[in-house]
Amino acid sequence: MKINGKHYYTIWMEDDDPSTVYIIDQRWLPHRFEVEAIRSTAEMARAIKEMHLRGAPLIGAAAAYGMYLATLEHSGDPIAELELLQAAEQLRATRPTAVNLTWALDEQLAALKAARSLEEQRAIARRTAQNIAADSVERCRSIGLHGLPIIEALAAKKPGQPVNILTHCNAGWLACIDYGTATSPIYHAHTKGIPVHVWVDETRPRNQGARITAWELLQEGVPHTVIPDNTGGHLMQSGMVDMVIVGSDRTTRCGDVANKIGTYLKALAAHDNQVPFYVALPSSTFDWTLCDGIADIPIEERAGREVSHIQGLKDGEVAEVLLTPTESPVVNYAFDVTPSRLVTALITERGVCAAQEEAILSLFPEKVLR
Ligand code: MRU
Repeated sequence: MKINGKHYYTIWMEDDDPSTVYIIDQRWLPHRFEVEAIRSTAEMARAIKEMHLRGAPLIGAAAAYGMYLATLEHSGDPIAELELLQAAEQLRATRPTAVNLTWALDEQLAALKAARSLEEQRAIARRTAQNIAADSVERCRSIGLHGLPIIEALAAKKPGQPVNILTHCNAGWLACIDYGTATSPIYHAHTKGIPVHVWVDETRPRNQGARITAWELLQEGVPHTVIPDNTGGHLMQSGMVDMVIVGSDRTTRCGDVANKIGTYLKALAAHDNQVPFYVALPSSTFDWTLCDGIADIPIEERAGREVSHIQGLKDGEVAEVLLTPTESPVVNYAFDVTPSRLVTALITERGVCAAQEEAILSLFPEKVLR
């Protein structure tokens, strides 16, 4: 997607510099656009943990590049399997909920088994990371193509009026490599000239909606309005939301969806108001080993400071201010689980299906346990 008219991916390498991975440092958006150079596994682990970059597909790709950087930290002999596993564990420990991270690390470890020399390890790790990123772009593009008819059908019911779409958190291209998951059908519709308007949940405590989704949509010229998180229910009761689309950090094979904290409340409100609730995700976000998401998906708990403080622009500088009484305890669960019964359908790179085991496996038959 574009920033000030220039095309960017969220993570990349330059042809003439094999030692550096570049990322867009999202901590300062929308007020400052900064690119960060990452040169070691430790730096990549910190960037993921401290959310310089974020979003399930992107942290998967970042972890894969982190493994490539691990191969650069050695000289001479090929890296021993134990050292590769240690690097993978360092990256795996950064964020527990998004399964793309673990998926990408396992892809790297499997690919690296074929290497017979340090040279080969580096070449394989770089190629695998680049393939994971390129696949993510293609998957997100396909999600958009499969989601587009849903928006077209809603548009056909209200000629001349915009389709109002509510989204939570940032499941846009900045959470992926390009296109986004939830935003991909929206971008495809906008490009096709279908009038859309996006209600952007601010998404406390880190405000990924207010800061990042709003900025993305602005760059692409998509009409949108930022709303406090509490507003969605009222909008749905008032007939001002035609559909909800969110992303996912982990979806079980039975269709339970872990996504940014607050997603579940939007699904409840949508269900109560017969507003269709869609989840857009690439197959790398399925956890094929789990069925019951509420019992079994690990929920990341983050620092209380993200709740007690809020970041914004003051006198031209990005600044943080205290929001709560210093003595008040705070808690910061980063994700919640929306049960499959509240999900109208899943939009994947292979098509749209019910959030039910049989339907999911009919799109991904290779995942049927034999
Ligand atoms: O904590 P974050 O900002 O990494 O959480 C991101 C989300 O919850 C997104 O909605 C999710 O990763 C889907 S991304 C395409």
